[in-house]
Amino acid sequence: ALPHDLAGRRVVVSAGGNREPLDPVRYLGNRSSGRQGYALARVAAHRGADVTLVAAYTADLAPPAGVRVVRAGTAQEMRAALLAESDGADAVVMAAAVADFRPESLAEHKIKKSDQDPDPVKLTRNPDILAELVQARRDGRLRVPVIVGFAAETGDPGTTVLDYGRAKLARKACDLLVVNAVGEGGAFEGEDNGGWLLAADGAESPIRHGSKSLLASTLWDAVSLRLGRQ
Ligand code: C5P
Repeated sequence: ALPHDLAGRRVVVSAGGNREPLDPVRYLGNRSSGRQGYALARVAAHRGADVTLVAAYTADLAPPAGVRVVRAGTAQEMRAALLAESDGADAVVMAAAVADFRPESLAEHKIKKSDQDPDPVKLTRNPDILAELVQARRDGRLRVPVIVGFAAETGDPGTTVLDYGRAKLARKACDLLVVNAVGEGGAFEGEDNGGWLLAADGAESPIRHGSKSLLASTLWDAVSLRLGRQ
């Protein structure tokens, strides 16, 4: 049986990938399936939490039972939803693949095909929602004791995924960072995940390769431990 250690807790999970519109029919998207975020929401609900899932676009996934789903298509919509939903929550977990860029302008009408080369698409940066949640808490504008980020990394020659993870944890200044080793069926479209769980207090534990539900259980164990210590 699952522990009911998250009873009375309210948690917010983001999932899926944003679509950034270029014109009324086209968008810039990514290949996030949303499976990890949905698994996190489902497992938290099983463990007794009141769960809000802020969902962008995903594969064809059924919303987990007993979970409140808030739709947020673009990064800017997701930012607004997360700032609103996270305040007063016990934890927020950023499992979404937030679009780093969006087309600078949204054409009012469908861009027409012609004999001419199309205009190049100009991109502009989206907000880093995770960094903003941390900053908002630091400024006293947001109350949420545990902020969790995800990082999908490949181990490039001379640098391991763990090195990248440590650097990202320092940069984002979140409380916990799940570092996914990408490749060999991990992350994004695959069913399995594995890697490291890094904490701002320096704790580092390997996450054994397994299902996204297993990773979700491992993460909620760590969150639950932190909430219990407060
Ligand atoms: O910087 P990077 O994209 O690798 O960081 C990944 C983490 O930051 C994820 O938790 C993701 O949800 C979050 N993120 C975000 N806003 C962005 C980009 C990433 O919140 N614009």
